[in-house]
Order: sequence, then structure tokens, then C-alpha cells
Amino acid sequence: MTAMRNGTEQLLQPAMETSSPVLVVERLSKAFGTRTAINEVSFTLAAGGFTAVLGPSGAGKTTLFRCITGLARPDAGHVRFGDADVSALEVQDRRKIAVVFQQFNLVRRLTALDNVLAGRLGYVPLWRGVLRQFERADKLKAFESLERVGMLEQAHQRADTLSGGQQQRVAIARALAQEPRLIVADEPVASLDPSSAAGVLALLKDIARTDRVTVICSLHQVGYARTFADRIIGMAGGRLAMDAATATLDEAAFAALYATAPSEHSLASSGHGDPHAAGERTYPKA
Ligand SMILES: Nc1ncnc2c1ncn2[C@@H]1O[C@H](COP(=O)(O)OP(=O)(O)O)[C@@H](O)[C@H]1O
Ligand SMILES: [Mg+2]
Repeated sequence: MTAMRNGTEQLLQPAMETSSPVLVVERLSKAFGTRTAINEVSFTLAAGGFTAVLGPSGAGKTTLFRCITGLARPDAGHVRFGDADVSALEVQDRRKIAVVFQQFNLVRRLTALDNVLAGRLGYVPLWRGVLRQFERADKLKAFESLERVGMLEQAHQRADTLSGGQQQRVAIARALAQEPRLIVADEPVASLDPSSAAGVLALLKDIARTDRVTVICSLHQVGYARTFADRIIGMAGGRLAMDAATATLDEAAFAALYATAPSEHSLASSGHGDPHAAGERTYPKA
């Protein structure tokens, strides 16, 4: 078992500074009953960028992310992570995709450190993980991850005594302890006050830039996306409605994205299904 652990780490950390994509999303579609959640969505993520996904509620952001992380099965299309289809990834490869949630999903009674160690579980043979006998190397990695997010001093504090912003930092440390190539963050700052939110997004951006981890992050505030993202993907009514470098996008582009105000029927009816659609010309700002 230990041999597998080491072998895996070596295999998945090649000195890959090539431009081969980290993630390829290809004509991805998924419906819930008659309701289309995402419709033929395609894009590619290269190593190290911070990509924001914007779009009105119901646009399909969460469904897209659940397909990317393998939590949901698409009806059609593919998600390729490195060389493999995401649905066929071995456990050790799947760990290279780390997920950050809106509600942090920490174990409240455990310390920050123990929560981060949970991110190392897949690297520890099962029986040792169950007995919580982490190796020194795992603990070092956990401390290093906490330091990376500025939470080393709170390592021994219980998660439920930390502020929201601090909890999200611990959750990001837990993600980093997985040594990910890709971080998928679905509305990671939606539960935070503006100053904590900006801090968390600055951290994610820095992780993308400095550590070359690819970050894809849905946001419901255009201002945050414009401030922090290198690239913005816009979704509307389950379709990819925008995909551009942040610097090339102006107010009008964002207004158009939110003006589409999709309903569950909008794909078929070109946006006439939602009575609120016409009135909804505003979008939230940071
Ligand atoms: N588990 C589900 N069952 C039924 N419908 C769903 C489910 N998840 C999402 N949907 C529908 O799919 C569409 C996209 O939802 P979602 O991906 O959550 O969008 P977003 O994250 O952009 O708000 C919506 O119409 C939503 O109601
Ligand atoms: Mg969502």
C-alpha cells in the first residue's frame, strides 16, 4: 500500500510545464427530467489560470462543476482531466481535482489541522487513516498548507471557533493538502463578508499564479470576477454565453449576460419563458 502511495505521487507530479490542457470540457450536456441544466458546453483550461464562471441563478454553474468533479454524470459530452475521462479516473488521480464549497464543509468539532489532514487521507493506507495515524510527512504537508493560506497560528483551533473567512482558508488548505492540479470552487465566497471574500479570492488567485494550480471558481458578483479572474466564462440558460480574457470584457458584455435571465424553458423558447426576464437588467456588484 505504501508503494502505491509513493508511486502515485511521482506519477502525477511530472515536471509538466507544457501547455497541454489541464481540463477539457467537450459538448457537455445534462438535463434533469425535461429541464436542461447545461447544454453543449465546451471549453479548455490551461495550467495555472484563475477562471471565473458567472451567470444568473439556474444558469447551470453548479451542474457544470458537479460534472467536472465527477459528482454528476453528463448525459452527453466529455470531461477530460489530463489524459483521462473524469468518470474513469482512479482514486489517486481524482484527488488531483480538489473541491471548495460555499459552506466550507469542515468538520466543526475538529481542529483546523485535523481538517486539513483529512485532505491527506487518500495518501494514507486506509487502516492508518481510520486510526488517524498520519505520517510525519502528511503532518508536515498539512502544516505547510495551513501556512500557505495564512492559518498556521490557528492550526490547533477548533473549526467552529473560526470566522467564515478563516474556515474557507482552512478548506483551501485542505484542498492544497491533496496536491491538486485543479481546484473547483463553487461560490466559495457567497457566505462571506466583502473583506473576507476579497481575501479568499486573492488567495485563490495567488495559488493559481504562484503554485500553478488551475482554479475555476463560480461567483455571483461580477465585480469580484473582474478584479480577480484572468478569464471569465459566462453561462446563461445552460449554455456558454461568454468566454474571454477579463481585460477584453466591458460593462455591456456583463449586462447582456445577466439580461438573458434564463428560465428552465429558455433554451427552447429563446428567453421568453421567464416573466422576470425583461425587468432583470441589473446584476450584483462587488
Ligand atoms: N438535482 C437537480 N434536480 C432537478 N433539477 C436540477 C437539479 N440540479 C439543478 N437543477 C436544475 O438545473 C438548472 C441549473 O441549476 P444549477 O446548475 O444549480 O445552476 P446555478 O448553479 O447556475 O444556479 C436549474 O434549472 C436547476 O433548477
Ligand atoms: Mg449554483
